[in-house]
Amino acid sequence: MNRESELNECRIRAVLKEYGNDPQQLTAILLDIQELSGRNYVAEPWARQVAAELDVSLTRVYETLTFYGMFSTVPRGKHVIEVCRSTPCRFSGGPDLMAVFSEELGISPGQTTADGLFTLEETNCVGACDGAPVYKIGDVSKAFSGLGDLREVLESLGEKDRG
Ligand code: FES
Repeated sequence: MNRESELNECRIRAVLKEYGNDPQQLTAILLDIQELSGRNYVAEPWARQVAAELDVSLTRVYETLTFYGMFSTVPRGKHVIEVCRSTPCRFSGGPDLMAVFSEELGISPGQTTADGLFTLEETNCVGACDGAPVYKIGDVSKAFSGLGDLREVLESLGEKDRG
């Protein structure tokens, strides 16, 4: 059974309960649901359930989902790789880094690999400019430290998920 199929109404209700059904915790609740989806997104039926059970408008839920760049309403890869496009990184090889990821993964920015493991995206400054050019995998920012290291990171993530 994959993790996506485990995300049903009961599981979402359990997440809501963990946060005391508190509308102030909307962002944290949606983050947990996105994590549990297994595909890094929040589907419309889940957003509707959250709105109904927290007694907030669906518009408010979607305002949160669209305001923060970490959310997606469409399925993404298990691992979302974001390459920084802000000025310091852009002038320190950010576009080249994006090209390397594209070549290694065989996808363009905004796409997901056929095995569903990786999605490639751009992001704004993640506050780690000293290491420019910088990319992020999940919550972790990394300074680009050579093609060999980058391949190791991708291989270890891929093997962990296949193994
Ligand atoms: Fe890329 Fe700040 S500009 S991390």
